[in-house]
Amino acid sequence: MYFDTHAHYDSSKFQEDRDEVLRAVYDAGVTLIVDPGDTVERSKNAVALAQKCGHVYAAVGVHPEEWETWTDTSIAELRTLAQQPKVVAIGEIGLDYYWDKEHIELQKTMFRAQIELALELDLPIIVHDREAHGDCLAIALDYPALRGVFHCFSGSAEMAKELLKRGWYLGFDGPITYKNAVKALEVIRVCPRDRMLLETDSPYLSPVPNRGKRNDSRNLPYIAEVIAREAGMTLEEVASQTMENGKRLFRIGEIA
Ligand code: NI
Repeated sequence: MYFDTHAHYDSSKFQEDRDEVLRAVYDAGVTLIVDPGDTVERSKNAVALAQKCGHVYAAVGVHPEEWETWTDTSIAELRTLAQQPKVVAIGEIGLDYYWDKEHIELQKTMFRAQIELALELDLPIIVHDREAHGDCLAIALDYPALRGVFHCFSGSAEMAKELLKRGWYLGFDGPITYKNAVKALEVIRVCPRDRMLLETDSPYLSPVPNRGKRNDSRNLPYIAEVIAREAGMTLEEVASQTMENGKRLFRIGEIA
């Protein structure tokens, strides 16, 4: 059984067949999912989906690319949402300098405000870090009590070690199956078994052999296979270990 700790089933790309896909995913053995919101509105949808669907949990947050939706009331709205049943984290939050270099200060303000909300509510965070490794690491380290996952980790093995020794988790996604994945494989080799998480980032980032198609959690085994190979584990060990890790980080099981 697998835990997909990052999949956007609230996305409009699942508008037509969301219920069917979620059922098929469950039948295929993906028995737990965390759906992170990207905006306040989509966070509401993620929470509603989690409350309707037994195997789905939600995270709430405003993604750095969605800076245009950020307002003076965003934190208050997220605080209310975060206290709903089945909300297990604040995310997806962070910094993205690939898409947007013009609003770096605003991105940092949003990131810090949402980190402080997570600390206030004692929730882990789900970090989006795209081409912003130095700043993401510096901000994460500014808050020693903060815990969470660097989603689709794309930093170096050195950066990974800095995070790992402070209790962070690393998320691995479809890109580790791509031919040009070199750095990511090195990261898998330095990552302790109890800190790895499996993610699809559905509907994005489909792994090989389904690259380019809409992604869903049924593709998780392709990602797990690469981890198994690089970390010297069996596929079953990767599945059960990442299930246990995800439940520990997101405290699923403690929340009945
Ligand atoms: Ni995502």
